[in-house]
Amino acid sequence: MSSPIKSVAVVGGSGNLGKATVSELVNAGFTVTVLTREGSTSTFAKGVVSKVVDYSSVESLTSALTGQDALVSTIATAAVGGQQTLVDAAVAAGVRRIIPSEFGINTRFLGKEPIGAILQGKVKTLNYIHEQSKRNPSFTWTGISTGLFFDWGLDHGSIGLDKSTKTATIYDSGNEPYQASNLPHIGKAIAAVLKHPEQTVNRYISIASFNPTQNQALEIAEKLTGEKWTVKHVLTSEEQQIGAEKLSKGDYSAFSNFLRRRVYGDGAGLAVQGPDNALDLLGLEGEDLEGSLRAWLVKIKKLNADGKLGRNG
Ligand SMILES: NC(=O)c1ccc[n+]([C@@H]2O[C@H](COP(=O)([O-])OP(=O)(O)OC[C@H]3O[C@@H](n4cnc5c(N)ncnc54)[C@H](OP(=O)(O)O)[C@@H]3O)[C@@H](O)[C@H]2O)c1
Repeated sequence: MSSPIKSVAVVGGSGNLGKATVSELVNAGFTVTVLTREGSTSTFAKGVVSKVVDYSSVESLTSALTGQDALVSTIATAAVGGQQTLVDAAVAAGVRRIIPSEFGINTRFLGKEPIGAILQGKVKTLNYIHEQSKRNPSFTWTGISTGLFFDWGLDHGSIGLDKSTKTATIYDSGNEPYQASNLPHIGKAIAAVLKHPEQTVNRYISIASFNPTQNQALEIAEKLTGEKWTVKHVLTSEEQQIGAEKLSKGDYSAFSNFLRRRVYGDGAGLAVQGPDNALDLLGLEGEDLEGSLRAWLVKIKKLNADGKLGRNG
């Protein structure tokens, strides 16, 4: 890649991950343009340009992407399967690096796990990008696996800690370390990928803010709150079964059940440690688990005091 990446288009910049991504790209000095749907009510920080696009039209997307060095897609899960149009437009517009909407478990190693059936939108998009990149060597890509969104997951229940009832749901033994990342840290990693285009070219990388076990997170939550929490034990084999039943009826909420099995199950082996964690490559450091849990508890305490209780408060 000859010259540095300066201009970056972000798809889904109003979303959970998108907001943190836009903010960290701006902090890192990139010129940021957010693509957004017709009728979207999203608003963006000063200095961020937004362009309304039609995601079903290569022409509309090509026009919006012309002049952009890179494209980061943080598009919603529901729309990940539709990213081929975006890829075609990125190639046509001469975009040099694409980071597709991955940002979860590593979709390159799904084996025969049933969760793979639900992640086909991501898998096919990356396969398609790979093909396009072989045909157009100036079009390059980086895939990023982040594991569970930790800060977001504390608010949305996927980490298994419920502050309002001081209940922890522990899957299997609770001793399996799992890959987890905070949203601003992922934003920083995206910016770092674009600052290190040679080191990250045509590669699938994995990052983790930390790799806690569920029991470690619970122990810290108990220490910080000064209280014993109620523990509910759940077997991931049961989660897998529930997921299979749901999926057989076309219910894609099966994803959460399969995910718990995939991430928390004893022996899952998805922790991303040592050289497998690309933070070193990106010049970043890991984050502090206790500090992240403290920030969550403080935020919830403040919401309680302000009478604006969150969903998992
Ligand atoms: N690892 C984890 O724990 C975890 C958790 C959640 C999500 N993820 C992954 O992270 C990525 C981003 O997810 P997210 O939760 O940040 O996304 P999100 O907040 O649900 O949506 C991001 C944005 O996508 C845009 N969009 C475009 N087409 C859309 C459509 N058809 N339906 C809905 N939104 C559409 C919207 O922006 P406009 O309105 O401006 O167009 C929306 O704000 C996905 O790949 C997702 O699978 C991972």
